Amino acid sequence: MHDAITRLEDYRPPEYLIPETRLLFEIGDERVRVTAELQIVRNAPDAAAPLVLDGERLELLEVAIDGRKLCASEFVLSDASLIIPDVPEEFMLRTVVEIDPYNNTWLDGFYQSGKILCSQNEPHGFRKITYFMDRPDVLSVFSVGIVADQKQYPYLLANGNPTGSSKLDEGRHRADWHDPFPKPCYLFALVAGDFALTEDRFTTASGREIILRIFVDHGNEDRVAHTMESLKRAMRWDEVRFGLEYDLDLFMIVAVDAFNMGAMENKGLNIFNSACALANPETATDGDFMRVDNIVAHEYFHNWTGDRITLRDWFQLTLKEGLTVYRDGEYMADSYSRPIKRIEDANGIRAVQFAEDAGPNAHPIQPKFYKEINNFYTSTVYQKGAEVIRMLEVLLGRDGFRRGMNLYVERCDGTAATTEDFLCAMEDANGFSLEQFRRWYHQAGTPVCKVSGEYDATARQFCLRVGQSCVPTADGSPKDPFCFPMVLGLLSRDGRELPLRMGGEEQCGGTSRMLVIDRSEQDFVFEDIDACPVPSLFRGFSAPVKVEYAYSTEDLMLLLRSDSDEFNRYDAAQRLMLNILLSMTAELRLGNMPEVPEDITDALAALLADDGVDPSFRAHILVPPTLSVINQELAVYDFKNSFKAREVFKRALAKRHAATWRECYDKLYCGSYRFAPDDVARRRLRNLVLDYLAYCGGEGIQLAEQQYFNCDNMTDRMAALVTLCASESPGRDRVLADFLERYRGDFNVVSKWFAVQASAARNPRLYDHVAELGHHELFDLKNPNRLRSLYGAFSSCLNEFHHESGRGYRLIADVIIEIDAANSQMSAGLAKAFRHYGKLPQHLRSRMRAELERIQSLENISAGLSEIVANTLKC
Ligand code: TRP
Ligand code: ZN
Repeated sequence: MHDAITRLEDYRPPEYLIPETRLLFEIGDERVRVTAELQIVRNAPDAAAPLVLDGERLELLEVAIDGRKLCASEFVLSDASLIIPDVPEEFMLRTVVEIDPYNNTWLDGFYQSGKILCSQNEPHGFRKITYFMDRPDVLSVFSVGIVADQKQYPYLLANGNPTGSSKLDEGRHRADWHDPFPKPCYLFALVAGDFALTEDRFTTASGREIILRIFVDHGNEDRVAHTMESLKRAMRWDEVRFGLEYDLDLFMIVAVDAFNMGAMENKGLNIFNSACALANPETATDGDFMRVDNIVAHEYFHNWTGDRITLRDWFQLTLKEGLTVYRDGEYMADSYSRPIKRIEDANGIRAVQFAEDAGPNAHPIQPKFYKEINNFYTSTVYQKGAEVIRMLEVLLGRDGFRRGMNLYVERCDGTAATTEDFLCAMEDANGFSLEQFRRWYHQAGTPVCKVSGEYDATARQFCLRVGQSCVPTADGSPKDPFCFPMVLGLLSRDGRELPLRMGGEEQCGGTSRMLVIDRSEQDFVFEDIDACPVPSLFRGFSAPVKVEYAYSTEDLMLLLRSDSDEFNRYDAAQRLMLNILLSMTAELRLGNMPEVPEDITDALAALLADDGVDPSFRAHILVPPTLSVINQELAVYDFKNSFKAREVFKRALAKRHAATWRECYDKLYCGSYRFAPDDVARRRLRNLVLDYLAYCGGEGIQLAEQQYFNCDNMTDRMAALVTLCASESPGRDRVLADFLERYRGDFNVVSKWFAVQASAARNPRLYDHVAELGHHELFDLKNPNRLRSLYGAFSSCLNEFHHESGRGYRLIADVIIEIDAANSQMSAGLAKAFRHYGKLPQHLRSRMRAELERIQSLENISAGLSEIVANTLKC
């Protein structure tokens, strides 16, 4: 029954509605008693429809309808539901259950994190709190009372606004909350604990004053200033960019250490993984600062795209996640650097999402079926979902997109909506048909756009032929031509941007323009072209597709030097390196020592030395394509040789230009720490430089050790640690010991200590270190952050995970088997590491199969894990 498949086509409106919900939580030392009073009305035309409520891990004490207790024969209880066959048209249902948050290892429903009690209800947590219709299209107005010991739990929080509090006997107290906005139960939140509270205020565009509160563990109050600033900037940004104002009088953020994901957008009471809510210069890197900013904004933006407008069913997940990731991406682009944000997004899509499309768990951004919805919080639904929204912005223009957003909000506010509602709003606001564009929602896969150019000197025409295709994906979804925007320009051989006039046009339309690609093959003719140009295709990564064009090395060098589009300058460098890395990988496979062409390393070094170029941009250009990206080009994956190729390449780049690297290192010093975009960019490049310097041995290692001890911030300290961890120098053990000593009591920093060791892909003893760290006293398999920092990080070191002995597979399989019963969201998540199965060479494939089968034979395997493993074995 738990293995049942849920299908989009089976959606039916709810048979009952719950307009009002009153909950009382009585928190005891061993159990929590939950009394629910649900006002229920029939929605189905069929009067015989039984009332079916979801409920798991609940101990039912009492059921009553309109004040009359039901006897056992009047309801049917199973481990997943409470069914009452005979109910009136409209009634008050009262249930009393007991739950045990103290032994809840799954971290959904109501659970304990440290000394805090907190909830996590998306997607199916609420059914572990009380009997309810746990589906996103049942919207209810919640009133909540919480009773607990005042000393242990001085703060008792729920959604909405506080409506009262009182002292009770025996040191207990009570708090009451009311949320006036109807919401599905997955947005319900409850927190009880002792916290350090930071408070601020925000005045909305219309002049309402909002109280902002951030609750963190005592001792962490010096890490919330940045979080609070981020929140206020996000609130302002949403008003300016989308005209969306906050709606309650109070907005709260709570940070907890035990959390399955990053954060959760519960109405008015966002709950965060502490790793995503805390930052100060001593304990957080620049990357952490930006991640906090990003996630605070993401959860805040959900208040409209997720909470006010919620989902009809879980197949609509991308309606809130894709759109909200798009929105937080725009916020980040406005706050930091737009071109860099684009580069980072494209990297993520290429390394993670394209790989997902190529693997066993491929699915469209709107899947059609699932066994376990938790498996669909993916890069496809989130990041590709955001790219799809972004393509709409490119197709409709920023103003057209905004008109569509306004109409969407106007129509759907207060409802449980579908992706169709969103697309229809975009269409109606713009008089633009998205009929073909919709395929992005139903077809998985990465379109390959094959482009060729033909120059006709007599006609002075350049003809671009654009073809698209998409290889079959594991989910079997169709592959009809997609519709996407290609923003392009043409460059002359001397690097000028050519004016673009297309066949049939009177005037030229600028030097960059958007073409709509929507057929398997299309031609575009450009007039008045004096010599064969070099096309700059998909500027700004205008669509999440792969592009094939027979660029010569000179073409790419030209684009790298002269393209006005920064993304394509970056991309030209990536293509240059990818081509080389692919031929080097092939050489290594044949047992040859590959050459690294000097013109490429020279060009990269010239760029490195160019102080006129944004240091952050230089830093990105100097990172060669990842193993994931390289291997996607291979019919049979070869992580061993592609890893070697990448190392040989980096070493050549480091050695040939050692003096340039060294000079940059000194020049880029920032002085005392400030989290400011310019300094972030400089530190980023400087720390990359440090890593390259370490390839030359001696001095680089020394510099890293000096930097580790002399710096005044976590960014530089971590970077030095990363560099030293990759080496086998004695300095490595010294700094690792020092780091642990300094930060032993600091939960999130200790996770960094695990992660830095587990991500040291070029350390030859990586496997031994990770195996040992699994037994460290500060390691805790039950904590998701720890799990990710050690085993998640290790499984991302593809060269070591795919070690020929199969030991990497075995290590991860052991962990999956050990945690599945305790936290299946984590076990299933970790099992996605086996996604390369279908493309491995035979000897690795059989070793991996043995581990997958061992997992599959697990007694009482969770539905989530079994779904991932079964899909993988099918490939
Ligand atoms: N909705 C959350 C977000 O995107 C993510 C989320 C889904 C989540 N399921 C979760 C977070 C479970 C924690 C635990 O922001
Ligand atoms: Zn989200």
